[in-house]
Amino acid sequence: MIVCHCHAVNDATVLDAIAGGAGDVAAVGRACRAGTGCGGCHETLARLLDAAAAVEEAFVDEVVVEVRPSPARPVREAARR
Ligand code: FES
Repeated sequence: MIVCHCHAVNDATVLDAIAGGAGDVAAVGRACRAGTGCGGCHETLARLLDAAAAVEEAFVDEVVVEVRPSPARPVREAARR
């Protein structure tokens, strides 16, 4: 789907830019030119940035849950002492 019509940039290219470290609309523009014309796509770029951040946050939360020790483990270890 084309996100930026001024430069014919699609959502996949924008998401690649975000995955490559573009953290705001200006950085996305520097990475792939999206948003550097009329500015009409800035709201869509901001929504893609927010969505990518939410996905990353959910992934980090999932990893933290996976590595967090079971709450039962300290109880079992204390019971052995
Ligand atoms: S539509 Fe993206 S800058 Fe114009």
